[in-house]
Amino acid sequence: MPLHFASLLLACLPLLALAQDDPVERLLAQMTLEEKIGQLSQLGIQTTPTGPVIDQGTQTQMPVTLVGSVLGASTAQQTRQLQEQVVNGSRLHIPLLFAYDVLHGFRTVFPVPLAQASAWDPDLAQRTARAAAVEATASGVHWTFAPMVDVARDPRWGRVVEGAGEDPFLGSALAAALVHGFQGAGAPDVSSMLATAKHFVAYGAAEGGRDYNVADLSERTLREVYLPPFQAAVAAGVDAIMPSFNEVAGIPMHRHTALLTGLLRKQWGFTGLLVSDFNAVWELGPQGIAATAADTARLAFTAGVDIEMASQSYRQHLPTLVRNGQVSRKSVDDAVRRVLTAKQRLGLFDDPYRYSDEARERASQLTPQHRALAREAAQKSIVLLKNSGTLLPLSKQPGKVLVVGSLASDASATIGPWAGAGRAEESVTVLQGLRNAVAPGTEIVYLPGASPSSPHIQDIKQVERTARESDLLIAVLGETAEQSGEAHSRAELGLPGGQNALLSTLLNTGKPLVIVLMNGRPLVLDESVQQAPALLETWFLGSETGNAVADVLFGDVNPSGKLPMTFPRHVGQIPIYYAHKNTGRPPSGDGSYASAYIDVPWPPLYPFGFGLSYTSFVYSSPRLSSPRLTSTQTLGVEVTVTNTGKRAGDEIVQLYLRDDVASVTRPVRRLRGFRRIHLAPGESRSVSFSLGQQDFALLDEHFSPKVEAGGFTVFVGPDSTTTNQAHFEVSDTRRLPIAGQSVPPALPNWAAERLSIICLQARNSEAT
Ligand code: NOJ
Repeated sequence: MPLHFASLLLACLPLLALAQDDPVERLLAQMTLEEKIGQLSQLGIQTTPTGPVIDQGTQTQMPVTLVGSVLGASTAQQTRQLQEQVVNGSRLHIPLLFAYDVLHGFRTVFPVPLAQASAWDPDLAQRTARAAAVEATASGVHWTFAPMVDVARDPRWGRVVEGAGEDPFLGSALAAALVHGFQGAGAPDVSSMLATAKHFVAYGAAEGGRDYNVADLSERTLREVYLPPFQAAVAAGVDAIMPSFNEVAGIPMHRHTALLTGLLRKQWGFTGLLVSDFNAVWELGPQGIAATAADTARLAFTAGVDIEMASQSYRQHLPTLVRNGQVSRKSVDDAVRRVLTAKQRLGLFDDPYRYSDEARERASQLTPQHRALAREAAQKSIVLLKNSGTLLPLSKQPGKVLVVGSLASDASATIGPWAGAGRAEESVTVLQGLRNAVAPGTEIVYLPGASPSSPHIQDIKQVERTARESDLLIAVLGETAEQSGEAHSRAELGLPGGQNALLSTLLNTGKPLVIVLMNGRPLVLDESVQQAPALLETWFLGSETGNAVADVLFGDVNPSGKLPMTFPRHVGQIPIYYAHKNTGRPPSGDGSYASAYIDVPWPPLYPFGFGLSYTSFVYSSPRLSSPRLTSTQTLGVEVTVTNTGKRAGDEIVQLYLRDDVASVTRPVRRLRGFRRIHLAPGESRSVSFSLGQQDFALLDEHFSPKVEAGGFTVFVGPDSTTTNQAHFEVSDTRRLPIAGQSVPPALPNWAAERLSIICLQARNSEAT
């Protein structure tokens, strides 16, 4: 026995020595239980004239010296001041992590994520995220709550503006790119920040499009549609994940042990931080699964949520729960270790102030390079929806121009929701951009006329008179920045406020009219909008909005964006998305007793992937490497795309795949590849993709991934309605290996079983 003890001690000595050397283990060994739980608490801060203070809106206050992270400090001065308070005022001098919602830029604002998704350009998204990280880290921000990777198929939901739209494949490619962009090269690079994939999971499936609402969806849809972008983020090495406010099929996500611990940690091997959403631990009470605040802490923590944001159930109740054995000390230590490890990796134990750098802040923010990148991103995000005749591009001497709509001069709309530390006054409005672009002497008259936030029309007689005297009308219509985003769902998706009345006045004049749309979601564009000969979707484009809009309107840049979300004709069609299943009576059939409406056409107004150009592209038929292959072989698909117009332009070549007959129903087509190419006038380019078992696979009726023998149709073209197709056969059926790591025994069948389809869909475009 003594021998046994001695050998055990000997064996442990190196480990003890290691613990002494490792600052994380050394700290853990010294920390009290309360200090540990402090590291698992995150508080919001507000800034006051005398400096930053803990947000009074959060519940019972705790000293900042006892928390592990704060949300909301956004300047080098604020972060340094708070860090000093904590490092000097706490017993163990553990530095804070500073978190902030850096979604689409910091001081330089890039297009909102839905707009960037319209560029279909993961490399561009990575570059904008990198630039945002460079700026934010200089102000001392270590951690962003981005990217938002929620698939969204209901434009009533206000948060569609924050994500990549309706498709898991495009969403996965952008999720990975954004994670790489924010996180950069990783420590010790001082511009590297922690990224957070949010909101895990199916937040976009909120019933009725009402924010925070329940999601009740099938296991198949969860696996095939909502999980893939998260798995792509995990595969890209994302540092943190935030559960969503909603419940999924009866289990609030902040209590979802099977998905948080089972799937994320055990199966996918995620080792980063799980941070709650704002107050969401406490909200397990109103959600009806916790009777007391202590229960909310116990349920969320034991499900796997490491850090509680804003509410203070952990601080108030975890110590007792640990002391009475309801929560294990080991699980607390594991969570604290993850927090401390993140701090160590960022180099904060060596220098707590290394990120808060006023000189770097001055030198790195809103630089000409970042403005140029913002302009490039904005140009590529614009989608030309309509251009009848030859109205666009405009001449730079267009005669007298009337610009109408309050959005034309609304700088805060340019930067959109979640604009980081962006300042509206540093952004170029559409009006300013037009003025910058026209030839000297061109008369531009501006009249607001109507605003999205008010039913009143201003000076309509003057608008009408001026319109009749003008050669060209440019109406800037849509939504304000506040009309989309968190808690800003809408039930009506038309032009809000007095904009319709303004539009009919303009249409009545018969003058050439260009509508520039600014909005955070697909809108329902009614008959009057469709009467305008030219329609440009510009979303919220960020700091360089006006310049980029002018670049496209005047033809200095050829528009190339494609819609990442379907535009419905009518709210009653929602949810509407291209990758739907067929029915036994497809609407495209003979029309009687088909799956359609009797009052509104069934197809969307503008399909997923749609966008026009000032030039024209012609596609060859797809050429396949073979018409028949085995399940383990790779299929080469090649098309030749020719620019048949007179202008150079970018085209986004899209590849979709349909499994013609399978043991379970499949979407009518799924995006499996895309490529942005540039073609000079008359130039042809061949574009190739390769498809493999990951693309052919499905989850069978037992959710087992496999490739099934049979026919497939591949479509390659300019949008999701293309009929440019070829057919091939897979000759054998094959089961595929299970994705992820070990399968935890505690998981329910559906969460524990094979999830490789999720991996499969997560492939980014580079692979194709
Ligand atoms: C609530 C939002 O749901 C989340 O996306 C955001 O990161 C947090 N608030 C913090 O601002």
